[in-house]
Amino acid sequence: MDSFEELAVVRAEALAALEETENIAALRDWEKAYLGRKGKVTLQIRAIGKLPPAQRPAFGKEVNQVKQELAVLYAEAEKSLKRAEIARRLAASAVDVTLPGRPAISGHLHLTTQTLRQIYAIFAQLGFEVYESPDVELESYNFDLLNIPAYHPARDMWDTFWVDDKRLLRTHTSPGQIRVMRERTPEPIRVILPGKCYRYEQITARSEHQFYQVEGLAVGRQVSMTDLIGTMHQFAELFYGEGRQIRVRSSYFPFTEPSIEVDTDCILCGGEGCPICKYTGWLEIAGAGMVHPVVLENGGYNPDEWSGFAFGMGVERPSMMKYGVEDIRLFYGNDLRFLRQF
Ligand code: PHE
Repeated sequence: MDSFEELAVVRAEALAALEETENIAALRDWEKAYLGRKGKVTLQIRAIGKLPPAQRPAFGKEVNQVKQELAVLYAEAEKSLKRAEIARRLAASAVDVTLPGRPAISGHLHLTTQTLRQIYAIFAQLGFEVYESPDVELESYNFDLLNIPAYHPARDMWDTFWVDDKRLLRTHTSPGQIRVMRERTPEPIRVILPGKCYRYEQITARSEHQFYQVEGLAVGRQVSMTDLIGTMHQFAELFYGEGRQIRVRSSYFPFTEPSIEVDTDCILCGGEGCPICKYTGWLEIAGAGMVHPVVLENGGYNPDEWSGFAFGMGVERPSMMKYGVEDIRLFYGNDLRFLRQF
């Protein structure tokens, strides 16, 4: 084989081997094998010196052409392998823009908020405005000014979370009565006072240590027990449904005189007796009464000229009855399976 034939064999071998390179690493090996310092083509160039002088120019030209050709092919192969690599990576991380989107989950109002708003709407219809008073209350507003002095046994009705020796978390919304009266110069009042209340109590399926109340207060020149009962009846019908009956039982609160407890006929059994009403036929909806003269006076209203009624109702309990919720702890449990149902 003369040197030209040898070169042709090396070239053919190089071209065939190039076809086989499937990745950059293999391509680099190929380059080393043919064009590197000890590569087969490089060795051919080095061998020029050993040829008879007459053959050197022609062979030199030929071997340089082969080297050029392979160098160009190498550059092209490198480019296309890199491009293929990028395409592969893009494909692996591709976003299919034709796929349908994932629906965004939208929230909604908590059951308690929904119930509160229903209550606001009902009392707005009856001419009551919403007034808010603080959660952290003075002992005097929560108790003393409501005719519950420190020695009064009725304080036991409201187990208390104390903040310091004068301040506490309100145990009921009634302190708001004093705040509203003190804020107004004597003039008729018709407000509801919604808010969270706190009691230092065991948590069970029936009672939480935090819960909402809506207080009502109406003060005027001739407000009577009849107005209170009428208002409670209206509320029962608007909240629980037309045709609801109410019943009034005598009760005791230090800040109302007389005091009553207001019940509505059971929304489930209509009075026949069932587990919801504990077979009494009635559901408790509010504690209420005529504002005690001492409380009117503490609010800056002369009890000889003014009279008023007040009531306090729960919010979670009525929601429970309306929707058949059996455990009050669900209201603060943040379990979405429960919350999503409303
Ligand atoms: N504050 C009383 C309670 O928490 C309810 C109530 C309010 C009773 C207003 C009478 C008048 O139990």
